[in-house]
Amino acid sequence: MPCDASLAAGRRIYLDNAATSWPKPPAVYDAVDAYQRENGTAAGRGVYQRSQQVGRTLALARRRVAGLLGASDPARVLFTFNGTDSLNAVLHGVPRPGDHVVTSDAEHNSVLRPLRMLEQRANVSVTRVPCDSAGRIEPDDVARAVRPETRLLALTHASNVTGAIQPVDAFAAIAREHGVLLLIDAAQTAGHVPIFTDRWGVDFVAASGHKGLLGPLGTGILVVGAAAAGQLAPFRQGGTGTFSESDEQPTTLPERFESGNHNVPGLVGLERGAAFLEQRGWTELRRHEIELTTRLVDGLRPLPGVTLFGPPDADRRVGVVSFRLERIDPQELASLLDSEYAIEVRSGLHCAPRTHDRMGTTRRGGTVRAAVGPFNSESDVDALVRAVAEIGAISHV
Ligand SMILES: Cc1ncc(COP(=O)(O)O)c(C=O)c1O
Repeated sequence: MPCDASLAAGRRIYLDNAATSWPKPPAVYDAVDAYQRENGTAAGRGVYQRSQQVGRTLALARRRVAGLLGASDPARVLFTFNGTDSLNAVLHGVPRPGDHVVTSDAEHNSVLRPLRMLEQRANVSVTRVPCDSAGRIEPDDVARAVRPETRLLALTHASNVTGAIQPVDAFAAIAREHGVLLLIDAAQTAGHVPIFTDRWGVDFVAASGHKGLLGPLGTGILVVGAAAAGQLAPFRQGGTGTFSESDEQPTTLPERFESGNHNVPGLVGLERGAAFLEQRGWTELRRHEIELTTRLVDGLRPLPGVTLFGPPDADRRVGVVSFRLERIDPQELASLLDSEYAIEVRSGLHCAPRTHDRMGTTRRGGTVRAAVGPFNSESDVDALVRAVAEIGAISHV
């Protein structure tokens, strides 16, 4: 098997940014290192200066994330430990026995599995509306699925398999019209495309801090809409460093939903990741993502034996590209890309089995998924296209 220049140079090409982004901006590493070595104190728990300093950094992180995710009040930005944690907070904190939830086939298991458990154990009924083979949800299907007992719509903002960006503003209009709550899974969009929590009227935006927002693993975000906090039962109770005389959970935000010590090393990094995004600005970041995605799709499409998935128009997708190569199992292809070309991509079902059912790829090992990030270059994408072309040519002789 031919050897790519990146392997010879010892450089690895990371194209799994949909799982977690890497590398992070250098300032993220510096902030985590400086905090660990020179501070290391708990936030919001002490009057001494170093603890207060950490409290100020977390407040700044909250303000930055609120700005990036379109929330006017930083107190409505809740820190969690990953996107899954944020989704569980809402899925276990909103529906009550007898309620109905509308979700879709484009969802990640971090939505599908909590809902399955609610069906089995909590007398919550669930309707799963279809997505098409490009991973797109039709708003009319969502509207038709709403019933008198519907309490929540739980829908993804972008498929982590096909990259399809969903029409959240249309979902928000449906939620308003029917008086139901709307949870958006923004794991694949936060930091990639603008999110307007307040303007769209979304009740809950769940996001990872470690993907597009460029923070370390172990960070997650839940943004709560202005009128939605009262609808959410606190998913975790415990010490908040405030109102310590009472054994009742505080009612004030954000501490009502943030019990126990924060992941401070992660959050000081997240603050720097968010600052990087602010400095770069949406226009430049999104342009880079669209350019690389288009280059990758255009490079792969003409290759013999390649099948691509996802919407054809780059501005309707995030930088996630799923594909298959005829006669090679996706897992084997991903292993070859890693071992022979030093290119790191994901393979399989990507925790979204129902999307693969719709694509017809569930029983065929799913797809290979390449996901670009802000630090990928055209040469990374070209290296993947060249490698797939070479593997394809060899496997077809
Ligand atoms: C669409 C989607 N939702 C939820 C998650 C879970 O996010 P986290 O890994 O931060 O728990 C992911 C992660 O890949 C995702 O792609």
